[in-house]
Amino acid sequence: MTPLLDIRDLAVRYGRITALDGVGLHVDAGEVVAIVGPNGAGKTTLLSAVAGIVRPVAGSIAFRGEPILGQPLERTVRRGIALVPEGRRVFGGLTVEENLRVGAVIRRDRAAAAAEIARFMEIFPILHERRNEPAGRLSGGEQQMLVIARAMLSDPALLMLDEPSLGLAPKVTDQVYALVADLRARGVTVLVVEQNADRALRAADRTYVLNAGRVRLAGPSAALRDDPAFEAAYFGMGDAA
Ligand SMILES: Nc1ncnc2c1ncn2[C@@H]1O[C@H](COP(=O)(O)OP(=O)(O)OP(=O)(O)O)[C@@H](O)[C@H]1O
Ligand SMILES: [Mg+2]
Repeated sequence: MTPLLDIRDLAVRYGRITALDGVGLHVDAGEVVAIVGPNGAGKTTLLSAVAGIVRPVAGSIAFRGEPILGQPLERTVRRGIALVPEGRRVFGGLTVEENLRVGAVIRRDRAAAAAEIARFMEIFPILHERRNEPAGRLSGGEQQMLVIARAMLSDPALLMLDEPSLGLAPKVTDQVYALVADLRARGVTVLVVEQNADRALRAADRTYVLNAGRVRLAGPSAALRDDPAFEAAYFGMGDAA
């Protein structure tokens, strides 16, 4: 079976800094896959390369079997890839509903977009309750749900989440991950980046450990949880210090 996303030998540099080196990774349709790793491991860079925000110097990225490396963000979104960046940027002055309409701009069919927004309000009842409030007044967890809902409005085949639990209390993080499980049950494939390895290992079918720009360990999350090599792979040396 052709993976939904297939990355091989990927290298990204920022000037003289090598952020990714020889990275290989795949995501099958229907999976939740996690990438975990410490500060500066290259996690955001990897998602940015898939989205078309940074340009790799080597390697290949295929989506549904077609090469997408070097394509700009607008093209990757149209192909069905959505990225929820670090830091849950909402348009704080716009209402919750207006934020969602921004997410639907890619849709040509406005009636369908409106119907989708109504459907998302059902999946995210808290967003429905607060639909007329400025998004800036939502809590961190609610804002995270809003940016995920907004990304879902482009109807992606692959949803990429960059550190969705960052700065959230454990209970709120539970809610965000319950949402991820719900989306997966609806057929969405998810690639999630986390510093919170514990959380990622619980949420994902498979996990890759990235450290100093390289994949150090990969496998089914259940196996990695008990793997004595996990800590060394995660915390190990590299040249990041
Ligand atoms: N725009 C940039 N210009 C120069 N160097 C960068 C840039 N973005 C990232 N880097 C460097 O590339 C490496 C990987 O960074 P990246 O942000 O991908 O890591 P990360 O795993 O997402 O880290 P964090 O957990 O802190 O978000 C780091 O050494 C970082 O300093
Ligand atoms: Mg990052």
